[in-house]
Amino acid sequence: MEDKAITILAIESSCDETAAAVVKDGRLVMSNIISSQIDIHTLYGGVVPEIASRKHIERINRVIEQALKEAGVTLHDIDAIAVTYGPGLVGALLVGVAEAKAISFATGIPLIGVHHIEGHICAAYIEHEDLKPPFISLVVSGGHTHLVRVRDHGEYEILGRTRDDAAGEAFDKVARAIGLGYPGGPKIDRVAKEGNAGAIEFPRPKLRPLAGDQNSPGSGYDFSFSGLKSAVLNYLNSEKMAGRDIVVADVAASFQKAVTDVLTEHAMNAVKEFDCDVLSLAGGVASNSALRASVKEACDAAGVKLYCPSPVFCTDNAAMIGVAGYYEYIKGNFADLSLNAVPDLKLGQR
Ligand code: KG4
Ligand code: ZN
Repeated sequence: MEDKAITILAIESSCDETAAAVVKDGRLVMSNIISSQIDIHTLYGGVVPEIASRKHIERINRVIEQALKEAGVTLHDIDAIAVTYGPGLVGALLVGVAEAKAISFATGIPLIGVHHIEGHICAAYIEHEDLKPPFISLVVSGGHTHLVRVRDHGEYEILGRTRDDAAGEAFDKVARAIGLGYPGGPKIDRVAKEGNAGAIEFPRPKLRPLAGDQNSPGSGYDFSFSGLKSAVLNYLNSEKMAGRDIVVADVAASFQKAVTDVLTEHAMNAVKEFDCDVLSLAGGVASNSALRASVKEACDAAGVKLYCPSPVFCTDNAAMIGVAGYYEYIKGNFADLSLNAVPDLKLGQR
């Protein structure tokens, strides 16, 4: 019988990870190569877009070659090239998009444009064969915080989003303020284990729905993290003025608890309101151990099935782009060589 497997080469370069992967039939990850630029950006306390683009250009060919080699395939075995075309840093996205278009042009392999957040959501399929829409996905990354109702493959309803800082951005900014450096999320996660999460009562922002906002219907699922970040900064200042020592682990644990409480509450409210007994986590912050524990506890209590991708599939990677690309392939959603980077691409927009 003819082998009908669909093999996709996926490319991701939206921020500071140069990544390529080979994914078969939307589930089987044959290779997942990630070249992180964290070491370079750490020197500047955050991602420097110009440097990110230059590093992507230096690394992308090698990363793709390695992904093909590790998967034991050549371009002859590839059915489509899926590439992240937004949202993200425009110069960084352009490197992946130009690379994918060049390979497609030279070989005739069809091209697929993938939404980065859709990729994050699809990461949950990789290790969980039984996961199928409909479900609620909590997408928490450095650039995005979205609560999404996944009605079907490629059919998303955004229930809530951040009105200011993304969750990961708040982790990174607070980490910098307490001297932990970049990237803040994993560092706060580690240090918080030694701290008392009840030591400082930071605010849990509650937002009312915006009148007439079509994208956030009804029930106040939006997030806001800049007030919490300011509360941490005010606390640090007032302690300093009073001449008291800061217990970094307590600040980290208390801040992390405030973030995870809000994320957990919103996700559980959505699950209840939409009578959905499946929740998945996505994005870099989804690798946070306190968030995973808090959501797990709430899901167990509510009889909700929880799907958390392994940390390597939470932070930016190309395997998730290969999975999202597979569902576009099935639908015949191919791009042509006019595909461009769209830094503010909206979920569900093509
Ligand atoms: O999804 P991602 O790799 O990139 C974006 O699409 O933004 O997310 C990166 C973000 C960073 O803000 C980083 O601090 C955060 O995810 N992060 C974490 C953890 N690991 C990464 N935040 C909290 N706890 C972690 N363990
Ligand atoms: Zn991401």
